[in-house]
Amino acid sequence: MSAVAGVSLADVDLTDLDRWSAGVPHEWFAMLRRAAPVFWQDERRGRGFWSLTRYDDILAASKDWQTFSSEKGGTSLMDLTPEQVQSRMSMLDSDPPRHKRLRNIVNKAFTLRAINAYEGRIRAMFREVLDAAFSEREFDFVDAVAVELPMRILCELMGVPLEDRRYLVQLGNRMLGNTDPDHAGKFVAGEADLSAYAHLPFSSPAAPEMFAYANSLAAQRRRAPQDDLTTRLLEAEIDGDRLSEHEFDLFFLLLVTAGNETTRHAMSNGLLALLEHPAQRDRLIADPALIPSGVEEILRWAPSLLHFRRTATGDVELRGMTIRAGDKVALWYVSGNRDEAQFPDPDHFDVCRTPNRHLAFGLGGPHFCVGAHLARLELRVWLEEMLPVLGSLELAGEPQRLRSNFFHGVKSLPVQVP
Ligand code: HEM
Repeated sequence: MSAVAGVSLADVDLTDLDRWSAGVPHEWFAMLRRAAPVFWQDERRGRGFWSLTRYDDILAASKDWQTFSSEKGGTSLMDLTPEQVQSRMSMLDSDPPRHKRLRNIVNKAFTLRAINAYEGRIRAMFREVLDAAFSEREFDFVDAVAVELPMRILCELMGVPLEDRRYLVQLGNRMLGNTDPDHAGKFVAGEADLSAYAHLPFSSPAAPEMFAYANSLAAQRRRAPQDDLTTRLLEAEIDGDRLSEHEFDLFFLLLVTAGNETTRHAMSNGLLALLEHPAQRDRLIADPALIPSGVEEILRWAPSLLHFRRTATGDVELRGMTIRAGDKVALWYVSGNRDEAQFPDPDHFDVCRTPNRHLAFGLGGPHFCVGAHLARLELRVWLEEMLPVLGSLELAGEPQRLRSNFFHGVKSLPVQVP
């Protein structure tokens, strides 16, 4: 059995969520990259899946959507019936040409130019939220800052009333943090009896609530259009057709979830990395021009999304293994980002690292994160606005990690200014 520093392949269980809540199992990934880069993982409650862990293999699979489909079985590792696949086929869970038609509708709203126009508003929001948070000597950074900001920004973009932001955060938590009892409420995927929810979209009671919210917002905008992304989505035409109600619901759900938890966790993981590497934090404070490369390093170091799934459309030979048509394949961005063949000294957190072509946004493929400019802007402005206090900030307790092998999540991060 192959082993790296006392770890053997037999130890690896990427479905062991309790292991993930203790932190990313980087030692497993180091061994997989070296000894089993195309690795078959059995699942207790599933068909099992292949894991790609090397940078080059993940990048190649992201690009090759004809072979590694997002549409055949969706992008999460859950096993879905054909009806479930059909009912959740958003832009994220579709392949070209359907994907391109849907993506074209939102692309314009997320260009660098369109996003940069929000910088002033975003900065004002950061100042307000940071001022409120730092009025206390000790607070939970996740709740006070990281949860607040991305959702406020999304509300602004979509024209959602600000007072509804916590409700939407909670719906997103229940749907996507559904492997952690603290986020999921009663429904814990993989452990509860899912059959009770099988008839619901995304097999989650939170999804119909999100759809009902989206439909009421859509009805308001149809009556009274506004200058916001919701109105633009409703008015957009694809091949002469408007989005159906369900397509709009899926767009809304995708933007609210993809645009919210990802940036939230990037801020929390980023702050944690800086607090744990004070010399790197001091470099940023001494030279704020390093903030953009610091942001990229945070995204490489702790990508908010640990993997996305694809489904093989035919038999593929890869590094001596045969992936069969229909098999699930996980692209482990978190492992590719530490691949020693791509990044010199990959386990060193270095805010000056260049080049830094990390995989955090799904590099190379048609699904490359449409919100990447927005996420980068949010993270840059956040660090710029944090700089005056960053030097005096300390951890005030153990951070709590999300119990998930999909989100690289932080549930709480107690900090203090002594
Ligand atoms: C640090 C923050 C973020 C990270 C790490 C991240 C990561 C990713 C990744 C890895 C993908 C590719 C999925 C795949 O290949 O299957 C993706 C797609 C996507 N992201 Fe992000 N994202 C972030 C922020 C955002 C924001 C702020 C928004 C929007 C407001 C957003 C909206 C989307 C959408 C709509 C897609 C689907 C694109 C498509 O299918 O063409 N993301 N994101």
